[in-house]
Amino acid sequence: MTIKKICCIGAGYVGGPTMAVIAYKNPDIEVNIVDINADRIAAWNDEDLSNLPIYEPGLAEIVEKTRGKNLFFSTDINKAIDESEMIFISVNTPTKTYGKGKGMAADLKYVELCARNIAEVATTDKIVVEKSTLPVRTAQAIKSILHNTGNSVNFDVLSNPEFLAEGTAIQDLLSPDRVLIGGESEDAIESLAKVYGSWVDDDKILRTNVWSSELSKLTANAFLAQRISSINAISELCEKTEANVNEVARAIGMDSRIGSKFLNASIGFGGSCFQKDILNLVYIARSYNLHEVADYWEQVIVLNDHQKRRFSDHLIKTLYNTVSGKKIAMLGWAFKKDTNDTRESAAIYVADHLLSEQANVAVYDPKVEDFKVLNDLNYLNSRPEQENRELVSVHDNPYEALKDAHAVAIMTEWDEFKTYDWRSIYDNMKKPAFVFDGRNILDKSKMEEIGFEYYSIGQ
Ligand code: NAD
Ligand code: UGA
Repeated sequence: MTIKKICCIGAGYVGGPTMAVIAYKNPDIEVNIVDINADRIAAWNDEDLSNLPIYEPGLAEIVEKTRGKNLFFSTDINKAIDESEMIFISVNTPTKTYGKGKGMAADLKYVELCARNIAEVATTDKIVVEKSTLPVRTAQAIKSILHNTGNSVNFDVLSNPEFLAEGTAIQDLLSPDRVLIGGESEDAIESLAKVYGSWVDDDKILRTNVWSSELSKLTANAFLAQRISSINAISELCEKTEANVNEVARAIGMDSRIGSKFLNASIGFGGSCFQKDILNLVYIARSYNLHEVADYWEQVIVLNDHQKRRFSDHLIKTLYNTVSGKKIAMLGWAFKKDTNDTRESAAIYVADHLLSEQANVAVYDPKVEDFKVLNDLNYLNSRPEQENRELVSVHDNPYEALKDAHAVAIMTEWDEFKTYDWRSIYDNMKKPAFVFDGRNILDKSKMEEIGFEYYSIGQ
């Protein structure tokens, strides 16, 4: 099938950047991104590119080049479905918060709604592409809905999981390590391979069966998250033994079998996917009675929760066992640098713990909007919203957040934090002035020379 029009359902962190790059690299294909969230679509259509709903380095430039030419954002889902030969489902698949599998399984209701929507609207043959991260064997369910609800048009279902990381999404999309396509129909697979073939070498386009493709996505995230929990586990041992986790990471990373990437000890991984996808993997393993497999992967989450908790425990203990009424400045709220995404950010959990001890938390993040900080905390439901409003302040200026603070906690590895005038920050803080560097981005000896009591992870 020659693809002239593509529809993507879901204008989020994956749908937006991925389709922008597909449009950019395929000027002859019209790409329509649709979403039920009208505010989000309006933000994607905002003339001022700094108001795009997602912050990603390089994204605004690509949107500027393509929007209104062959890239369109709209809420008219039915029209876009009907007119397209290829439809990507790129909606959210969060952890279920109710019913069977609550807290573990992926909630597939949004994906199912999309499948039903496609089935009802389609009048011509379609290739339906799973771009969302889905449990292994979901394509079966999508196929069944499409074939039983649809009006006798032919649907091919492909799995094409996305491996981009936020903060480097555009770079990851422009030069992917691989593109994975799982499917049954060779024609459908080749139609999608051709779209990517505009800029990705064919030997990087991997064709597999659908189930391998679905499971590879969960497995990739599980392996990545496992590396972080592994180095974080060692970081705690380093703190007891005077080994330095940065030195250990460097030493093991030079072994080409281990490799040097993804070995930064931290306050714990965040983001919308690692935890959700591992919980999903654990749930699937349990559903096949593979309890040893499930327990093995669950430890990655157990360790990650422990790492977040021990950071805030240590902070409280160091501040003479009480933070009540003390000002704790938090630098960074996003789950990693170069994104405005705060989903599952470690900062939320650390702040929540400090607030339970009645600390005054002053937050600064260069890209996160003020309202998100309070929303994230209110969502946890740990205390009345009014109390969060009284105890938390969000600042546009880092030096204001830091003024008169008893301690600074670095939550996100934003580059700008490294270049702050730490001497003047020290002068304006309460003494002793503590720094808890959850990202190991500052120089311990320099910080100590200024006079800070400096704590970092695994050093
Ligand atoms: P997101 O929440 O940013 O975006 C999803 C969008 O889908 C939302 O705007 C929502 O309004 C829309 N939507 C939901 N149901 C809809 C419906 N029935 N019709 C139309 N629109 C609908 O989510 P995301 O971060 O883009 O993630 C999407 C999927 O991609 C998830 O399965 C995730 O696991 C996977 N993924 C995410 C990343 C990442 O970095 N965020 C990377 C790889 C894979
Ligand atoms: C991750 C994967 O890297 C992507 O391949 C995948 O597509 C995506 O999840 C997804 O499925 O959503 P992302 O969560 O955007 O991407 O960002 P990462 O760079 O993986 O970072 C995740 C978390 O781990 C962040 O909180 C980060 O700070 C933390 N991290 C990362 C560490 O603590 N140490 C490291 O060495 C690396």
